[in-house]
Amino acid sequence: MRLFGTMAANEENHLSIGGVDTIALAKKHGTPLYVMDQGLIEENIETFLHRFQSEKFVTNIVYASKAFLNLAFCRLIVEKGLSMDTLSDGDLYIAKRAGFPMERIVMHGNSKSISELTMALDLGVGVIVVDNHDEFEKLDRLTRARKQMTRILVRVNPGIEAHTHEYIQTSTYSSKFGESIFDPNIFNWFTEMDAAPYLQVEGIHCHIGSQIFESSSFLQAVRVMTEFVAKVESETGVRLTTLNLGGGFGVYYTEGDDPIALGNMLDAMIATLEEEIADRKLGINRVMIEPGRSIVCNAGTTLYTVEARKTTYSGKRYVLVDGGMTDNPRPALYQAVYEGVIANRMNDAPTEEVCVAGKCCESGDVLIQSTMLQAAQVGDVLAIASTGAYTYSMSSNYNSVRRAAVVMVKDGQDRLVTKRESFEDLIRNDLDLEA
Ligand code: LLP
Repeated sequence: MRLFGTMAANEENHLSIGGVDTIALAKKHGTPLYVMDQGLIEENIETFLHRFQSEKFVTNIVYASKAFLNLAFCRLIVEKGLSMDTLSDGDLYIAKRAGFPMERIVMHGNSKSISELTMALDLGVGVIVVDNHDEFEKLDRLTRARKQMTRILVRVNPGIEAHTHEYIQTSTYSSKFGESIFDPNIFNWFTEMDAAPYLQVEGIHCHIGSQIFESSSFLQAVRVMTEFVAKVESETGVRLTTLNLGGGFGVYYTEGDDPIALGNMLDAMIATLEEEIADRKLGINRVMIEPGRSIVCNAGTTLYTVEARKTTYSGKRYVLVDGGMTDNPRPALYQAVYEGVIANRMNDAPTEEVCVAGKCCESGDVLIQSTMLQAAQVGDVLAIASTGAYTYSMSSNYNSVRRAAVVMVKDGQDRLVTKRESFEDLIRNDLDLEA
């Protein structure tokens, strides 16, 4: 298993993260347990802040909260000076409760309700990304009634097919996100939106997909989007000042994954942006990107307890753990592949090929289809790396499994930031309690 950030084998032959022994963490907080390496998160944030910079325009790093969100994390994002992408009224609520400065919120969503838009206006979010014409009409009505000036970006679909799993491509011609730049009505809409008295059309947004490795897709997005800004200006006279290029920077999960180094990818984007903006004489003075996975994924490790082992009649060996698709649905949803290690046997050589499966009543509840592991015993702690993104945020209560706890580690200290759900949490919304 590749070790990231502060992961290391300690003297006791245990995996340690942030200078904290993971076996001690498993004992103290129970399993499954999400362990977040705060040092690595901070390092990733620094890379974005320092490498995505230009003297020609302002840059904003907008953390995509869908990757991982809780109050403590929100506060860390505030402290680091990042903006944040939210998608629902629930995200807005969490941001508000964490004291997130609302002017740094970018409100997303392809299906926003009147009440969500109203909440965004009540809170005074920085900018709303309007996904479609129907949403524009809702927002136009609302802002007129409230006489509230509101900054918007228009989400467009530039029709770029990035090489990634089809479920996380977001910019193919038939994607549900944004309005196509090839739609014959698109320029009329810009004129119409620009005429709305309380909407300030600042720019455009695209997000071409997630877990993208090559810089060519991002650079193509820069070219297509800047060309489109120029077209909007020439066709409608609307001068756009903000370009938001979304997220999607790929990370390593398993052997064979070879993402380009983040800093180099960002340098290449900045160079292409500066060139395209200058060549096309655009009024773009702000560029935003929205990384999620690349900030948190490699910083997260999930700890499980091995509850049983089994060899099937066909000879398949299973290591069965106390979590599974409830804390990480990605293998079941996207055939995502992970690497694991027996955290209390770090220096033992992997000797057996096993399938790591979870506890849910579902054959597809597999965490790692096939991997070489050290000889595991019941009671051992299995660690799966690179589980910081889209795991906790996509977790469920299937089979009434309680959501796992989250602990942040740094400099030899651990800080419980989300506790494990209680049994009471499982029934707190049920109204049929007799006693
Ligand atoms: N901005 C927008 C508008 C997005 O839709 C997304 C991700 C991001 C930014 C952040 O993308 P990232 O940097 O994290 O790749 N559940 C899937 C991923 C879904 C991504 C959805 N949108 C997974 O587990 O792979």
